[in-house]
Order: sequence, then structure tokens, then C-alpha cells
Amino acid sequence: MNSNPLREGMRLKRIAPSHILIILGVTGDLTRRKLIPSLYQLYRRRLLPTDLSIVGFARREKSDEQFRNEMAEELLQLHAPEKDVLRFVAMLHYHRGDFADPNAYRALRERLESMDGGEGERQPLLFYLATPPSAYGTIIDHLGAAGFSDESMGWRRIVVEKPFGVDLSSAQQLNARVLKVFREKQIYRIDHYLGKETVQNLLVFRFANGIFEPIWNRRYIDHVQITVAETLGIEGRAAFFEQTGILRDIVQNHVFQLLCLVAMEPPAAVDADAVRDEKVKVLRALQTIAAADVEKAVVRAQYSAGSLWNETLPGYLQEEGVAPDSTTETFVAMRLFLNNWRWAGVPFYLRTGKRLPKKVTEIAIFFKDAPLQFFPEEMRKDVVSNVLALNIQPNEGISLSFDSKVPGYDRAVRPVTMDFRYGAGFGEELPDAYERLLLDAMVGDSTLFIRADENETAWKILQPVLENWMNQNGTLPHYPVGTWGAAEAQALFPSGRRWRRL
Ligand code: BG6
Repeated sequence: MNSNPLREGMRLKRIAPSHILIILGVTGDLTRRKLIPSLYQLYRRRLLPTDLSIVGFARREKSDEQFRNEMAEELLQLHAPEKDVLRFVAMLHYHRGDFADPNAYRALRERLESMDGGEGERQPLLFYLATPPSAYGTIIDHLGAAGFSDESMGWRRIVVEKPFGVDLSSAQQLNARVLKVFREKQIYRIDHYLGKETVQNLLVFRFANGIFEPIWNRRYIDHVQITVAETLGIEGRAAFFEQTGILRDIVQNHVFQLLCLVAMEPPAAVDADAVRDEKVKVLRALQTIAAADVEKAVVRAQYSAGSLWNETLPGYLQEEGVAPDSTTETFVAMRLFLNNWRWAGVPFYLRTGKRLPKKVTEIAIFFKDAPLQFFPEEMRKDVVSNVLALNIQPNEGISLSFDSKVPGYDRAVRPVTMDFRYGAGFGEELPDAYERLLLDAMVGDSTLFIRADENETAWKILQPVLENWMNQNGTLPHYPVGTWGAAEAQALFPSGRRWRRL
């Protein structure tokens, strides 16, 4: 599961020695922040194909030299050694073109053909859509028309960034469009959460150990809480976020993927289809929220001005580019149930928000209380249930809380925790999710990518919520920056249960 060359050895044998990676939308934020640094890290760890060319495709006028210098500057800012950076950027090329212009793809074709001493077209080609989602359809059509999905000369794959669709029908349309050009096996829909080490470890934790599975069900588990909290606001992305909101941006993909990995049955094998079949079964088992119940099961809210780390920050409505009467949600909390034998009756509480007090992604499994309490209430100080907390980030680890006797002559009981931290356990820095996913796309392993049916089923669950919100006027509840979201979210719990303090 780690990208150490020795441990990765078997998988990497499957990687072709030459490759061309074409990043469409290369002048965007994603390339600069994630793709280039991750490719560079893979290069430094000697995990990239030995003969890789990276071609950036975008509208702006730029020479290869300029592109290389810009990317080198970014990497140097991350304190990468200059010698390595210069070697790495020598792999980069720039191709100017308008996404809507068929000639741009013909020119790309000629350019690729001429690469690698005229062998370019024989190389495997990996296309990466890093453009705004509105451009996906056009690009895919043009790639098809230029013959870029034909695999007679070498494999052709396409990585599509999230968001994949904005609701069920747009996702279905996009799937139909991409499937007209590429086969499902060639399509890699990305959700970077699946590339996180701690997320991959969910399967290992559950299925490589014998002791958790017997209690991983409705008989022993009271409820599950999944939190994806961010301190960030919308980071100048108002145009994107106004159209998206946090339900589409984080719940439909990242949060649902975490839920799937917690709730799925053991797959018959650890291969792409077996794992994804089990995840789809979880999504299918999610109880549809009836239109009349949306308000009881889902809470949305928006941040208002407040302070975080002693800094006063504006509310969502004051962010640049946000409509003054916007009803885009920046916080969502919801309660879902799964209609299957393992989970019937166990609530899954999900919450995510921007400008919360802390960046933390955590899955907390709350076990049922012991059937009898021998210790009187007054001896049990701050007693909590047994909670297994899977810390996805940033303090990656796993901890189990349980009650313990307080040393001394009375019989006081207090919760304590047993902790595992990745840093202390493995002494290695965890690779960025994009490193793993880029490598997997090159190896041809789509286990950690989203299949068409998975994407559509996730949208289907949220469709009644999206429709209910669309038909509502009025303002949303607000929560001040630096607080844990709308107070209304507490009402999702029965009495005696509450959101975990993080
Ligand atoms: C992205 C969302 O998919 O995930 C962003 O578009 C969000 O809004 C980001 O900030 C969070 O990713 P991570 O890895 O920092 O938890």
C-alpha cells in the first residue's frame, strides 16, 4: 500500500517503459498544486516510467521553455533540490490549443507522432482532464474524433476529475457521452480520497484482521459518524462553489466513499470489479430520503463572519464573487440508514463544512454500551461509549477508547484511549493521494477509481435532497466561522447522543 519501490515492485512490473501523459487544462490550479508535485515525487522515488513525456495542453500561448520554467519555479518553492527539478522538467512539453477547436487535436496528434523519434503514437497515451467540468464533454468528443480512443497502437486511458456531473441526469449524460468514445475500462473517474493511505487502509484494517469483522454490524455498533471538516473557505473559487455547494463537492464523492468502505461486505477478491461491486451494493442499500423527510434528515447551513485562529474572517455572502442572496450551502449534516442485514437500524451521521474550527477527517464507530453497568453513575466520570476512531487526516491514525479504573482507592472509572499513529508506526511521510492515483492509472489498476454505476447511484441518493433545496426559497441557517456548523445538526440525533467533539 506504500509507494516504496521494493513493495511496489510487483505492480510496477506492469508499467510500460514509455508513456505520454497529456494534461488538458494544464494552466489550472490542479496541475500546479497537485499533479506536477505528485509527478515530481514519483520521479524522485523512481516510480515513473523510465521514458515518460508529459504534454500540457491549454489555451494560453506559451513555449515549452516557459512552461518548464514555471513548473520548476513551483517545485523549487516546495524546496525540491534544483538538480532534480531541472531533470524532471525536461520531460515537460507544452501544446497550445483551444478545447473547442478540432484542429488543436489534429495538431496534438501530429505532435505526439513526432515524439520519441517518430514512435510517439505507439506509446501508451494517458489523457488527464484537469479543466473545468463544463469542458469535459467537448474535449471527449474531440479526442474521439481525432482517434485518440483507438487502442490498436497502444493503450489509451482517460482520467476524469471530479465533479462528475452535478446531479443524476447530468452524470448519466456525461457517462453516456464518455462511453460513446471510450470503453469503461479506459475511463478513470478520480476521487482523490481513495488515493489517501488511510482510506486504503480501511480495507486492510477491516479485512486483514480477524478481530473487527465479527463485531462490525448492527448487533454491536450503535451508530457511525463521519466528519470531513475544513478550516478553509472557498479559496477564491466562488464561481465553482456557487454552482456546486458542499453536498456536491464533498458528500457525493468523498464522504460517500468513506461510508462505502466502512459499510461494504468483504469483496471476493481485491480487484477493481470485486471491490467496486461491493461499494455499489452499499450505495444501493442506502435508504432513499423521501421528499417529506429531507428537512428531518438533512441540515444545511452557510458560514457567517467570525473568527478563526484570532483572525476575523468574512461570511460566505461577503466572499468575492458570491451572490448577496446566495443559498449555496457550506455545511451539511445528514442521517442515513442502510437497508441491509448488516446495518439495518444503525444510523450513519455525516457532516462536512468549510470554515469549521479544525481540519479533520474522521470516521468514528460508536459501539453499543455494555448490557449491564455495575459501577454507579457517580463513579463513572465523563464515561463515553467505546469508540473506534479512524483518523483519516491530518493526524493519521486509529484510536480506541474504553473505560478504565482510575488508579487509587476509590472505584472511579474514566475513558482512556489506545492509539496508533502512522508517523510513529512507520516513520515515513505518507505520499500524496495523487501520487498513488497517477501511478495506478499508468499501471492500469482502476480499483481506486469510480465506476459509472457507482457515480450514478451516489447521485441518485442525493437527488431528492437537491430537488427539495431547489424548490425552497428563503435563507439558510448560519454558523459563525470557527464553529462546528449549524446548531440544528444536533437535532439529527436522538436524546443522549451527540456529535463527537473533535
Ligand atoms: C476537493 C474539494 O475535492 O477536496 C475541495 O473540491 C476540498 O473543496 C478538497 O477543499 C479537500 O481535500 P483534502 O484532501 O484536503 O481533504
